[in-house]
Amino acid sequence: MRPDDAPFASHAQELARADASVTRMSGTRRDRWYPTYHVAAQAGWINDPNGLVFFGGRYHAFFQHHPYGTDWGPMHWGHVSSPDLVTWRHEPVALAPSIEAERDGCWSGSCAVGDDGRLYAFYTGHRRQADPMDASSRREVQCVAVSDDGIAWKKLGVVVPGVRPMGNFRDPKVWRQDGAWCMVVGQQSAEGRGQVALYHSSDLLAWEYGGIVYEHPTPGVRMLECPDLFAVGDEWVLCFSAMGMRAQGYVGRNYNNAGYVLGSWELGSPFVPHTDFIPCDWGHNYYAPQSFEAPDARRIQFGWMNAFRFDAPEKADGWCGQLTLPRELTVEDGVVHARPVAETERLLGPAHTWDAVELGANERFVLADDLACGRLDLTLDLRSTDAERVGVEAHRSPDGYCLHVAYDAQTNCVVVDRNRSLRGNRGYRAFPLRSHRDTLKIQLWLDRGSLEVYVNDGEATLSELSYPGEGPRELALVSESGTACVTDLTARWIV
Ligand code: FRU
Repeated sequence: MRPDDAPFASHAQELARADASVTRMSGTRRDRWYPTYHVAAQAGWINDPNGLVFFGGRYHAFFQHHPYGTDWGPMHWGHVSSPDLVTWRHEPVALAPSIEAERDGCWSGSCAVGDDGRLYAFYTGHRRQADPMDASSRREVQCVAVSDDGIAWKKLGVVVPGVRPMGNFRDPKVWRQDGAWCMVVGQQSAEGRGQVALYHSSDLLAWEYGGIVYEHPTPGVRMLECPDLFAVGDEWVLCFSAMGMRAQGYVGRNYNNAGYVLGSWELGSPFVPHTDFIPCDWGHNYYAPQSFEAPDARRIQFGWMNAFRFDAPEKADGWCGQLTLPRELTVEDGVVHARPVAETERLLGPAHTWDAVELGANERFVLADDLACGRLDLTLDLRSTDAERVGVEAHRSPDGYCLHVAYDAQTNCVVVDRNRSLRGNRGYRAFPLRSHRDTLKIQLWLDRGSLEVYVNDGEATLSELSYPGEGPRELALVSESGTACVTDLTARWIV
């Protein structure tokens, strides 16, 4: 046995200990912001979606999980499964650190169903050597585990040690391409540049280096986490989560930023980009997305509604972190569109519909006295609107908290404004509309502790965490300094 593959603990015991901790912590969890329909752990911390796959008649979503606390810590793989992408069942923790190569964590990765019908999980073994903040003192390698049922895993050890020892070399994404197995991995070059490396294999176990498919053009972008390379129709999408990007206008405003470039690619050649970096999502809380191909060939992506760089209030409640809704990706008019998968309609309960609403200047129109979880659809008739801003106050609680989603006429942007957030971070994010149109469609998905905004049928999304106070959560339309006309207005409750 190679030293990296040697166990330092019993995997079965580590899993049992992790599950016991989650059960213990979930006993005292507070649910004021705990999601009713988004994926989260029963308790403890989660980050990236991992290993998304349809296997054995169910969808499986794994995620980075720290089962011993509400902060990021030594990573495990948590696990939920679903028959339909919307009703999720908590499964036992799938992977816990137990061999030398992953002494400090089983980091992000992906799943593939092998030619033998078994499920393979590829993930990064992470080890600190001396100083955890110094990449040269860390070591990252790619490991594999195999399962017959998606629940119980047998570790097979390190399969991709890298072409040289690397401290930033992670997040293997594996898929089948032209009869070969391919893996993309994010890495930092010796010169400190963010790159995506390719490996290929005929049996999922022996991997050969296939070169660099992409290097980020901007010096300073030092690492591309969670790379994902896939075709949508005739277009190739290279998605990654960039560390070290500087903000430019509305783009790149988060601490680290998830986005994509469109281009062309074939096995054996580098990726040829046709676009600049485009954010996957324009909100504050989105990172580390991963996609997979559903049995009906839809390309579906989950993101992490991240709470990495601020003191997320839900930590006091015994949990932290949730995933976005599964979003179906298409490429339309030269950009990726992301819509909630059709199955999400099953979540929806009673509907309330209004005829067109004309709002006077500075008017407020209450749509629902209490809508914590639900969906709102509306169309703004921009020809009949002269308000400076018109939009929705969501999750407005009696203490004055609300999240404000609006169309801003001055900048032609859809904005999420957290100025009246009493908990969590403030500030705003904006999606600049690509053209001036007569109408604007907005769809909001509200859950107890989050808000997802879909603009113009998925042309853009904005993901936000939300922390309303005690009591009812009002939903209202508001126009500022001018009148507005809202049509096709429907609120649906999720119960
Ligand atoms: C992205 C990330 C990955 C890594 C994982 C560790 O959020 O930093 O690159 O594998 O999280 O939890």
